[in-house]
Amino acid sequence: MPEDVEAQLLAIEKADLLIVAAPVYRGSYPGLLKHLFDLIGLNALINTPVLLAATGGSERHALVLDHQLRPLFSFFQALTLPIGVYATEADFTDYQITSELLKARIQLAAERAAPLFAAHVPSLLKIA
Ligand SMILES: Cc1cc2nc3c(=O)[nH]c(=O)nc-3n(C[C@H](O)[C@H](O)[C@H](O)COP(=O)(O)O)c2cc1C
Repeated sequence: MPEDVEAQLLAIEKADLLIVAAPVYRGSYPGLLKHLFDLIGLNALINTPVLLAATGGSERHALVLDHQLRPLFSFFQALTLPIGVYATEADFTDYQITSELLKARIQLAAERAAPLFAAHVPSLLKIA
C-alpha cells in the first residue's frame, strides 16, 4: 500500500474524535466509504467518539445516520454520538450553510461532542 495512504489510515485509527460525513447514495453511504473503513484495524476505533453526518437529495433519507452509518461504527465499538447532522441542498446557498436550523444542529452536536473529545485529550481537560 502507498505510504501516503498508510498515513491517512493511521490518522483515522489514531484520531481523538472522528467526524464521519457522507453523501447518501441509493439509500445508504457510498461503497467507497465502506471500502475505506474495511481497511481500518478491527480494534482501532474502540471507544473513539464518532460524530455522524450525511447529506442527501431528500429529507426522507435522514435515517441513513441511524440505520446505516451508526451500525457500521457499532461494529468497531466506537462511541457514536447520539446527535448526528443531516443536511440537504436546501440548507446551502453557494456552498455555504444558510439554514439556521442546520447551524443550530451543528452547534448542538459540537457541544455534545466536546466533553467526550476532552476526555480523550487530557490536556484539554486542564484548559476547561
Ligand atoms: C448515485 C447517486 C445516488 C443518490 N442516492 C440518493 C439517495 O438514495 N437518497 C438521497 O437523499 N440522495 C441521494 N443522492 C443525492 C446525494 O446524496 C446528494 O447529491 C449529495 O448528498 C450532495 O452532496 P455533494 O454536493 O457533496 O455531492 C444520490 C446521488 C447520486 C449521485
